[in-house]
Amino acid sequence: MLVLFRKTPILGALLAQVVALPVVAAVTAPLSTMVERLPLIVIALVLQGGLAALLCALLRLPRWWLLIAFVFPLAMGSAMLLGNLPAWPFGIAFLVLALVFSNTTRGRVPLYLTNAETASVLKDLMKDRAATRVLDLGCGLGGVVRALDGEGRQARGVENAPAVYLAARLVSGLTGKGEIRLGDLWKTDVSEEDVVYAFLSPAPMPALWQKLSSEMKPGSLFVSNSFAVPDVDPDEIWELSDSRKTRLFLYPIGKTEEGTAG
Ligand SMILES: C[S@@+](CC[C@H](N)C(=O)[O-])C[C@H]1O[C@@H](n2cnc3c(N)ncnc32)[C@H](O)[C@@H]1O
Repeated sequence: MLVLFRKTPILGALLAQVVALPVVAAVTAPLSTMVERLPLIVIALVLQGGLAALLCALLRLPRWWLLIAFVFPLAMGSAMLLGNLPAWPFGIAFLVLALVFSNTTRGRVPLYLTNAETASVLKDLMKDRAATRVLDLGCGLGGVVRALDGEGRQARGVENAPAVYLAARLVSGLTGKGEIRLGDLWKTDVSEEDVVYAFLSPAPMPALWQKLSSEMKPGSLFVSNSFAVPDVDPDEIWELSDSRKTRLFLYPIGKTEEGTAG
């Protein structure tokens, strides 16, 4: 059961809310004669969020789900209290969130972005290797793709969250930099790339390494931002001096030493 919730955290988060609901109702019902309506609702919502977050922790869901579990009842409660507002802003907000984050529950890769310092280091790395083709797997808003494209380099990105893809495509179209595709990184051809870059999460790393080590050409390089491939020694780890102390894990393709890449 725990495995199911770790694979599909949204199910665990929903269960936590359902289990917390009767407990919170039982605790707050006796207060209804003593406390005014508004403070009572706030107490109930905070209790509901707190208990649901605690249950998510017990189910060992990733930390950001604890935050979601806590904030969700407060957001729903606020929407109910503001009930005289039109419904469409909530509908649009939901649609936008779904278009941005719909892939997160399946792939367990949220959207956060590579900073400019890291992109600049990647550009230097490509120059040093005289690499001309680079692919960002899960390119988000396409910042890395645009930073690396040009001066003889061809940069591509693939992204599967529809709204994120549209934004990336729009900016790349306007700036004329990089090529952004809508698609699944697992189905993307990596065989022609000199460098493949990814900034994902711990969850996909073992399967991603399987794909890249068997499909990328010998002599090419896989660079992972922040997340190492379990049980595979990187050739180098670069620790950057940016504010988040970014670590880049470098895996050359085609090395045959035991325990190393290839
Ligand atoms: C942490 S963000 C990194 C964005 C970008 N690479 C950067 O460094 O700025 C990861 C991105 O991967 C995307 N993603 C997750 N799973 C994916 C998949 N199977 N195919 C394509 N993109 C995916 C997410 O939607 C998200 O935009």
